[in-house]
Amino acid sequence: MSNIKVELKKSQVEKIKEMCRSFDADPGELINILHKVQGSFGYLPAEVQEVIARELNIPVAKVYGVVTFYSFFSMIPKGKFPISVCTGTACYVRGAETVLQEFKKELKLEVGETTDNGKFSINCLRCVGACGLAPVVMVGDKTYGRVSPEMVKDIISEYREV
Ligand code: FES
Repeated sequence: MSNIKVELKKSQVEKIKEMCRSFDADPGELINILHKVQGSFGYLPAEVQEVIARELNIPVAKVYGVVTFYSFFSMIPKGKFPISVCTGTACYVRGAETVLQEFKKELKLEVGETTDNGKFSINCLRCVGACGLAPVVMVGDKTYGRVSPEMVKDIISEYREV
């Protein structure tokens, strides 16, 4: 994983500030603000966190603490083909963990990371509402059901050449 330096455009900084203001720049709304900014920006790199901290008048360390604590916040851009492994209860009991391990091993990635070529990233999701198909994996918008560790290589190879 490379360390990506992000140059924010003036308009992007303005947009982030505006989103903070839409919550009255209230530090108590930090999680909601982060959600909104990630929804628009896609992820929350250090440079974005700094703007938010300044706007809310709180230490950057506080923002960083929240971003790293919650798994739904990400500090790196997702891959072109984001892989989401459902680790909700139904999927978990049917072996989501071993499927997840297999993806990590195949792509040499940890959860929340993106491959250097920007192609794949791995994330975990709570129940995606397809428990009947557990364990469920999504790649972008495409859903794979009853995924076994043996299927992982094939799933990845569908996207490798794309
Ligand atoms: S727990 Fe995975 S789809 Fe419901």
